[in-house]
Amino acid sequence: MSTRTLIRGGLVITAAEELHADVLIEDGRIAALAARGTQAAEAWSADRVIDASDKYVIPGGVDAHTHMELPFGGTFASDSFESGTRAAAWGGTTTIVDFAVQTVGRSLREGLDAWYAKADGKCAVDYAFHMILSDVNERTLKEMDLLVEEGITSFKLFMAYPGVFYSDDGQILRAMQRSAANGGLIMMHAENGIAIDVLVEQALQRGETDPRYHGEVRKVLLEAEATHRAIQLARVAGAPLYVVHVSAEEAVAELAAARDKGLDVFGETCPQYLFLSTDNLAEPDFEGAKYVCSTPLRPREHQAALWRGLRTNDLQVVSTDHCPFCFTGQKELGRGDFSKIPNGLPGVENRMDLLHQAVLDGHITRRRWIEIACATPARMFGLYPKKGTIAPGADADVVVYDPAATQVISADTHHMNVDYSAYEGKQVTGRVETVLSRGELVIDQREFTGRAGHGLYTPRATCQYLG
Ligand code: URP
Ligand code: ZN
Ligand code: ZN
Repeated sequence: MSTRTLIRGGLVITAAEELHADVLIEDGRIAALAARGTQAAEAWSADRVIDASDKYVIPGGVDAHTHMELPFGGTFASDSFESGTRAAAWGGTTTIVDFAVQTVGRSLREGLDAWYAKADGKCAVDYAFHMILSDVNERTLKEMDLLVEEGITSFKLFMAYPGVFYSDDGQILRAMQRSAANGGLIMMHAENGIAIDVLVEQALQRGETDPRYHGEVRKVLLEAEATHRAIQLARVAGAPLYVVHVSAEEAVAELAAARDKGLDVFGETCPQYLFLSTDNLAEPDFEGAKYVCSTPLRPREHQAALWRGLRTNDLQVVSTDHCPFCFTGQKELGRGDFSKIPNGLPGVENRMDLLHQAVLDGHITRRRWIEIACATPARMFGLYPKKGTIAPGADADVVVYDPAATQVISADTHHMNVDYSAYEGKQVTGRVETVLSRGELVIDQREFTGRAGHGLYTPRATCQYLG
């Protein structure tokens, strides 16, 4: 039976505009918007009316970089698709794009099917997949074409983690050439992993085992160099490039220089690089392990360049790189050797709120908030306008957001399956009140009303920024 829902009295914010409008939802889609008080809006009737007076009405967030259940360093990311997508919903994110993993020696198909199986029937919100290429060879290059046709239109390569996910420059060039031909988008983890491994070995020989040395050996210059090299390889291949989890000012400069040349080079950063720093990595009693991720947190001075990049559009997307590991039993694997700490931070629940706080702090505008967190990731990964906006025909993935509510972020109250928060004790203004996913209430006035299995797998078109 079709349900009509009316969201009345809110300020609708999209990447393009802000308007006081009522939103009519029918059959899981946005049916119409009408300016408040107009005859059209007054005439609408609905089975369910949501009062959004004094609230924002925004598109559900699109988090284009998550790792539910990722195998890493002998353990697995602690959020399942069920717990991770439930936490996403709590945080106003209604679509995630997670990374299926190819194991070395195995096919892309096998890796992808394993990820379909992990997520099937488990998700509270919609989901899609990128593919991690761990083993670029003739067979897997051919498989890339099939995946693009199937709706897996982006591929992550690693210049880091030799022996695990690492690809050499030849493999990277071949994958880029293939994506230039098949329309796929290469996503790059840009750090010189070969050089980093030398520095790791030398640091450990000197007895430098604390988590803070993770930040010291993964040098800014080695992120900048890899970013530069990835851009040049993409130019040679004639392929577009998306650089993930950019953390260093010098890497932003490489992206800006490429974009100034008119190249199809895109960049993503994450809340941890905008709000946290090497000060966190240096926390005593091994607490710094909570903040070990790669690329690493940087000295605070880099944050200004990241915010600037987001304002100037040299960086286009903020994703979380949500990859949680519990402090107890998981991060602790690296006591006495920082290189054994599983890499990754939790954050899928916090992104929309932290970026709203950035609006209040004057870093970005309200529309830019929606652009970098909803509209651009949807366009970048072929989901727009189904996802990422509020417009007739779009999926009714809608968040009623209270811009005045205050909250203190804490592991005591979050819904991610992880025993600490990277933002513990941080007070932010703004909070998700109600969330609809394809017209169904999944959070209703701060109560979870969703269910595992509501979220649907969503195949994607190719990047919508390319000609
Ligand atoms: O530390 C991180 N980022 N862990 C997840 C894997 C990756 O490189 O994105
Ligand atoms: Zn990465
Ligand atoms: Zn990642």
